[in-house]
Amino acid sequence: MKITLIGTAAAAALVAGSAMAQDTPIRIGLMLPYSGTYAQLGANITDAMQMAMEERNNGGVEVEYVQLDSEADPSAAVENARRLIDRDQVDILVGPVHSGVAMGMVQVVRQTGTPLIIPNAGVLAATGELCAPNIFRTSFSNWQPAYPSGFVAYEAGARTAVTLSWDYGAGHDATGGFAQAFTEAGGEVVEQLFLPFPDTNFQPLLTQIASMNPDAVFVFFAGGGAVQFLNDYNAAGLHGTIPLYGSGFLTDGVLDAVGDAADGVQTTLHYADGLDNAVDGPFREAFEARTGRVADVYAVQGYDTGQLIAQTLEAVGGDISDLDAFLEAMGEQTIASPRGEFTFSDAHNPIQDIYLREVRDGQNVMIGVAYEDLADPATGCTM
Ligand code: PHB
Repeated sequence: MKITLIGTAAAAALVAGSAMAQDTPIRIGLMLPYSGTYAQLGANITDAMQMAMEERNNGGVEVEYVQLDSEADPSAAVENARRLIDRDQVDILVGPVHSGVAMGMVQVVRQTGTPLIIPNAGVLAATGELCAPNIFRTSFSNWQPAYPSGFVAYEAGARTAVTLSWDYGAGHDATGGFAQAFTEAGGEVVEQLFLPFPDTNFQPLLTQIASMNPDAVFVFFAGGGAVQFLNDYNAAGLHGTIPLYGSGFLTDGVLDAVGDAADGVQTTLHYADGLDNAVDGPFREAFEARTGRVADVYAVQGYDTGQLIAQTLEAVGGDISDLDAFLEAMGEQTIASPRGEFTFSDAHNPIQDIYLREVRDGQNVMIGVAYEDLADPATGCTM
């Protein structure tokens, strides 16, 4: 585990000559995976978030970042979140990527009242039964990108499907969303297969799928695990034989590493390559110039987290002492995202278009809108 404290020189320089509502820097704690299968996701979220903050002069205040490697380890989540809040005295918490880690963070901030902005983890409860005035998500619920896939697969002619994912909250929520829509449309999910997170021993499961020979396969995998899965699906002779669907995390940020093993795979997600809006092009250029990496959905979510924090700070004149006013202002923000503009539901989850994408020449090309303005049902949220 590494903890680094980074002051932003740019922010300090900017603030030096200006009056500030806040006489001490605002501390933002980042609890994200910087190692393991989700390491690349954490890096993209962090870099894009800081880029958005700088573009907006940090909302007019001085900020400090405290970074903590969550290691995507749910068992350390409560302790790590407490450390950031109690020892490092962060004012705002940003994280995590992994739904299991999110459960620990949510538990802590429901007690402390610390504003939490989730830049990835899609666990339903965070904006469902455990929703709270201080919990926001700039990403998605795991149901959101998965649900439209069920209709896509059915409309393409599939009548039977098998789902496969890691055996933790995100996998269950995503495959559940697909199964719900596929069944509503008239299809039948004949088997739901799981393997422990972050295992990549896919071979026995692929053999099982080949013998069941369903019309479609839907999966939830991301990061390093998604690369391995796409390569193994191809090597098992299933690519091009049994149509593969997934939440778009399956093919986002991984195409350079899989060659043509993902060609033609259709996924659904709240982002795609080459979207036609005024924000996306400049965002991608700036991100690539800053990091040397191509932007993906995780960079978008990080960017929008930075935009949300900066916009809200601007809205309250940099004064976070009235926490209720700060949180209320946060919920009212409209985010001009590279994914397209979005607002927050009452449960603080983005209401957003879900795109249908197809992998062509190393790009997640947008081939349609699978579901417009999709809001998570926020089951159990009584805020
Ligand atoms: C999650 O754990 O909710 C999760 C992780 C990685 C993703 C998407 C969702 O790409």
